[in-house]
Formats: sequence, C-alpha cells, structure tokens
Amino acid sequence: MPLPSPILVTAGPTWEPIDSVRFIGNRSSGRMGVSIALAAREAGHDVILALGPVTITPPESGPRLRIERFRSTADLQALLERLWPAEANTLIMAAAVADYRPTKGGGEGKIRREEGGLTLHLEPTPDLVAGCVARRRPGQVIVGFALEPAGGLIDVATAKLRRKGLDAIVANPLETMDAEDVTGTLIRADGQCDSPDNPLDKMAFARWLVATLEASRPDESRPTATPV
Ligand code: CTP
Repeated sequence: MPLPSPILVTAGPTWEPIDSVRFIGNRSSGRMGVSIALAAREAGHDVILALGPVTITPPESGPRLRIERFRSTADLQALLERLWPAEANTLIMAAAVADYRPTKGGGEGKIRREEGGLTLHLEPTPDLVAGCVARRRPGQVIVGFALEPAGGLIDVATAKLRRKGLDAIVANPLETMDAEDVTGTLIRADGQCDSPDNPLDKMAFARWLVATLEASRPDESRPTATPV
C-alpha cells in the first residue's frame, strides 16, 4: 500500500460549543498527527495538515505543507467535504473527534448559573472517517486511529477498522496516552500487524509509520489513484 500523494492528515482535538464561551473538548495534544504530517513531508509527499485547537506551536505552512484549521466536529466535517476526495489521495485520520456534542451547541450568549444544576443534552456526532470512506475514489487510502485499553486492543481496533471500512488503523493503548513514547501497532485490512521493536517518541513513531505504510504490499486489486 504505497501512499498516494497528496496526504491529508487530521490532528488534535475538537471543541464542541456549549455556548459562546464554553466547550466540551478532550486531551489530545495533536503531537502525533503533526509528527505524521512532518514525516510524510520528509518522505517527499505533498501534505495538507488539518489541525484542531491545539496548544502546541503548530508547524508553519511552507513548501509541500499546507495547514488548514478547524475547531468543532462540524468545522472538520466541512473541511473534509472540501478536501476529500478532491484534494488528497491519502487520509490519515489522527484527530480525536468528539463522539457527542451539545444539541444546541454554539448557541448565542452565555449560560447563567442557576440553583438546581444544569443538564446538557448531547447528540452523537457524524462518523467523519466513515463518511470519507463512502466518498473515496478507487486507489485512495484511508488510515484511522484507535485509542483503546491495552486488554483487547488489537481485537477492538481490528473490529473498528472493519466497521469503518478503513485500509489500516493505528492502535494505541489508552494507558500510554500521556507518555512521551508510543507503543502503537499498525493493523491492515488483511489482518497483518506491525509494531516497532521498541517504544518510540512521536516523531520517530511517525517516521516508522509512514515508512511501514509505504513498504507494505501494494493491493493489486485496487487501481492507482488519479492525480489531483
Ligand atoms: N472518528 C471520526 N468521527 C467521529 C469519531 C471518530 O472520524 N465522530 C475517527 C477518528 O478520527 C479515528 C477513528 O474514527 O480515526 C476511531 O475513532 P474512535 O473515537 O476510536 O472510534 P469511534 O467511532 O468513536 O468508536 P467508539 O466510540 O466505539 O470507540
């Protein structure tokens, strides 16, 4: 599965608005996805990095690296509808997309404190990567991410890969979420699993991931992606 360029990488959390000043977010730093974007550029690809509301200093746009920003799942959905499948041939979906968002999210104004508490109603967000799978053209490649408890990691991630129709998924143990080093496993649609010999820092893991995706057996049954 050599990766067809351009490569679109999504990274970071989403912020789901509660009112005009508050949101529901998550602890994704975006470092894994940013590292993948940089590693893909190093490997000679044209890269689009779709980056969420992160606190790390984002890389600068430059030759072969274009940066697009999003905040909420709705923003990322609109961005993906614009960029995929028209402007990229590989999608690496490392963003930590919210599963639920406030039903009246983004409402104007500010909720006031009242006695008796506050109940937020949440609705499920659309599965963005599954939407990208549904829209993809022959030869385009889609890689997802899964952060799951170490017990059953591979089985759960494999089931997720199949449910969403991905070409591959990177399975990371939840227990190492805040660690500097990554112990991820790349699982392909044919069931093949690969992981680095030792835990690697995020940039080294990203280089390993790009190289391993590039080195894997091309899927003969699928025609080559058309240039975009
Ligand atoms: N993802 C997505 N849209 C969502 C949720 C997740 O595109 N609304 C993508 C993530 O970017 C990731 C993959 O789907 O690449 C797996 O995300 P995960 O949150 O682990 O999967 P879920 O579909 O949310 O499944 P579950 O809640 O059962 O863990």
